[in-house]
Amino acid sequence: MNDLCTVILAAGQGSRMRSKLPKVAHQVAGLPMIAYVVEACRPFLAKRTLVIVGYQADRVREALAGKAVEFVCQPKRRGTAHALLQAQEALADFDGDLLVVSGDTPLLTSATLDGLLLAHREARALATVLTAEVAEPTGYGRIVRSATGELLRIVEELEATPQERQIHEINAGVYCFAAPALFKALQTIRPSAVKGELYLPDAIALLRDRDGGVQACRVLDPDEVRGVNTRAELAEIHRLLWRKTAMRLLTEGVTLLDPERTYIGPYVRISPDSILYPNVTLEGQTVIGEGTTIYSGCRIRNSTVGDGTVILDGCIIQESQIGDGCQIGPYAHLRPHTQLHHRAKIGNFVEVKKSIIGEGSKVPHLSYIGDTSIGERVNIGAGTITCNYDGVTKHQTVIEDDVFVGSNASLVAPVSVGRGAIIAAGSTITEDVPADALALGRARQINKTGFAAVFRSKQQKG
Ligand code: UD1
Ligand code: CA
Repeated sequence: MNDLCTVILAAGQGSRMRSKLPKVAHQVAGLPMIAYVVEACRPFLAKRTLVIVGYQADRVREALAGKAVEFVCQPKRRGTAHALLQAQEALADFDGDLLVVSGDTPLLTSATLDGLLLAHREARALATVLTAEVAEPTGYGRIVRSATGELLRIVEELEATPQERQIHEINAGVYCFAAPALFKALQTIRPSAVKGELYLPDAIALLRDRDGGVQACRVLDPDEVRGVNTRAELAEIHRLLWRKTAMRLLTEGVTLLDPERTYIGPYVRISPDSILYPNVTLEGQTVIGEGTTIYSGCRIRNSTVGDGTVILDGCIIQESQIGDGCQIGPYAHLRPHTQLHHRAKIGNFVEVKKSIIGEGSKVPHLSYIGDTSIGERVNIGAGTITCNYDGVTKHQTVIEDDVFVGSNASLVAPVSVGRGAIIAAGSTITEDVPADALALGRARQINKTGFAAVFRSKQQKG
């Protein structure tokens, strides 16, 4: 299968979205739309994957940062055929098959692409186009067939006759081409009379009479090839995608109390006997272990959560690693690069950033822990703050095993607290604390006997 190159069309603005952001960079369940398309193509291990960019190219590049793709620029948008022509030079020496997909069909699956490729290679066709039979074909190119059912051409909605608009078989915008034949045909495509654009679907009529010919391959599930052109379609895509993931998880042994109100991206994995309350959002490459419970209003992104952990209502967790048997929330915020080892506890209104919380350690109430390493069995009292930022640089706090930090302490970093030390409540700790020491960092209390009573009686008289 390696005699394959992939081209993803993604240069358009997507004007129907009415957005400053290029359409393919819009988020779908926490990932840019085009990332789904790249992912669907990935199993084919194409020799090269070219992404045609143009409108706000940098935003599209950013959306695909770290992916093994090359970018080709289409400086002016003159249509989908013109977009593909931009890749001609880069593919000059390539005589294999070209898989062409649009960046705006995020529900497309690898299985469907596999079927298309197989059909294309079996027939030794010059072009194979993916089509779908849909109830509502408005906006799509229509598949025109002969009386005997042969594929003749594709007509765009704008150019279609009233009869052609009655056709319910649509062009999915996904094709396989024999590369040399395609690029030859693209040279002869003429601009559309209506829009002045060069239409890639016109290549079908041009290749039809050549040796090898063209064919259509129908997709099994038409929802897969839905394009996103408007915000309404973006919302619809979300609904389909969340629903599909929810159904998969239900069959995999996960309890979703209300599947229609659970928002889980397609790459999320959850082990059996986990329970999700309504209104939970799981995004990106999140992995949830077995027997974990996530209560309402939580959003977890690109994070790993172990087995038997409980995440109470209203937590946000991003790019973090959570062990087994942890308890988090309610209303906790775990920012990127946080690690909770097994049985750690992060309680109400606690924010943790880029920190390690050791096994069995607890930060139960109202704390900020940033750039900190906490050992095992540590207790952090309510309201404790690590002061990690001096206005210029971030500094580290180290708290070793079995430390007890009293309530409302401020630990001014860089600072370290040795094993087994105790920090008195209300202390401001600016110097390192040795192991097993008691650190008091506050003014001594003075009690003035009888003062309050005298004060009150003076007030009453005067
Ligand atoms: C296209 C097809 C239509 C098909 C539909 C399926 C054409 C002319 N029409 O229509 O037959 O039913 O997809 O979803 O191809 N793009 C560029 N450069 C351009 C123009 C577009 O890179 O100059 C990219 C866009 O960013 C997008 C993709 O090509 O990712 C498709 O363009 P779009 O405008 O969405 O085409 P449709 O009108 O949906
Ligand atoms: Ca489209």
